[in-house]
Amino acid sequence: MLARPDTRHFAPSKRGEAVGPFIVMDVVKAATERAAKGLPVYHLEIGQPGTGAPRRAQEAVLAAMQASPLGYTTSFGREDLRQGLARHYQDFYGVNVDPERFAVVAGSSAGFNLAFIAAFEAGDRVAMASPCYPAYRNILGAMGLEVVEIPVGPEDRFQPSVAHLQAALEQPGGLQGLILASPSNPTGTMVSPKTLDEIARFCHDQGIRLISDEIYHGLSYGAKEATALASSPSAIVINSFSKYYSMTGWRVGWLIVPEDLRRTIDRLQANMFICAPHIAQVAALGALDARDELEALKQTYASNRDTLLAMLKAAGVTTMAPPDGAFYIYADIGHLTQDSVAFCARLLDETGLALTPGVDFDPVRGQHFVRFSFCGSAEDVKRGADAFLHFVRKRQLNS
Ligand SMILES: Cc1ncc(COP(=O)(O)O)c(C=O)c1O
Repeated sequence: MLARPDTRHFAPSKRGEAVGPFIVMDVVKAATERAAKGLPVYHLEIGQPGTGAPRRAQEAVLAAMQASPLGYTTSFGREDLRQGLARHYQDFYGVNVDPERFAVVAGSSAGFNLAFIAAFEAGDRVAMASPCYPAYRNILGAMGLEVVEIPVGPEDRFQPSVAHLQAALEQPGGLQGLILASPSNPTGTMVSPKTLDEIARFCHDQGIRLISDEIYHGLSYGAKEATALASSPSAIVINSFSKYYSMTGWRVGWLIVPEDLRRTIDRLQANMFICAPHIAQVAALGALDARDELEALKQTYASNRDTLLAMLKAAGVTTMAPPDGAFYIYADIGHLTQDSVAFCARLLDETGLALTPGVDFDPVRGQHFVRFSFCGSAEDVKRGADAFLHFVRKRQLNS
């Protein structure tokens, strides 16, 4: 008989243990528990359209399930999907991209892992704005990379500039990478095409690998989005079917891979994931033809954005940068709290409104910010807005 293994010396790795939580998921859990008790909940916490995959994607999936065994695809994905994506870049940005440079991946989250391993050595320093999407710093930390946070605020429209990068480059260890998200999560702000071009060229010239997270492209409420691809041959572009295409759970996105990383990323994808889920690739191909349906969703987000901006003004929340794109507002509630986690817990408990505390995106200054996500239905956003205003007014009366 085998002796019982002695597990006293086992422990999680330090780099695994160091990974921070994804606080929005704690809010989702609390909101779900509240809903299970039959209490009302207004979901303005998670960045997930409630609408599901567009009709054309669903039709493509039903047809493919009857017609094909849906086995593995090549590691970079179906040829017809990569050609469809190349046509999209021509139509939307007027940029010519070789379909061979597209790697279809299991959501942009898988894309980050592939890009970071392919582009960086352990110990390399990678910059990003703070506040930012928390998985950037958490994945980099788990891989033994150093996160260089660039604190930005409403005065910078929450985006970094070449001056910030120059300062980071002059620090000991220099700078090997930059993650730029435009529109950004949690702020929805964008860099102008001119600033993007300056940043992309600066990075290329200084040997800083630019990773351009373009997942919220398609969701802009005025300014036209530009892609880093047009300004830099060394940038890695990351995008996904999760947001504009309303397909979070399908786990499908894409990288546009610079020539020098193509073989490396191909080998990494083949070893780590083999390929993105084939059925999701079929759905993605259908979604590329669903523009009318998706533009109608964007109209709902635009009117939700107006509802929330008007409500925040009425609630006296004035420090924020109105979002150019995505479906988020990052609002400074410093006059109401210095503990955004406790504030959000109380708000959910008293009103049913679920928001994400700012500490998910900026562990320090996020104590006095909350993020509103407005990709839900117009009714939910309106009820959530009323609940917030009522809660704030009651608090002001009692203080
Ligand atoms: C800025 C940003 N990048 C990436 C992701 C991850 O998306 P995916 O579903 O494609 O993995 C998110 C999800 O919220 C996000 O906000």
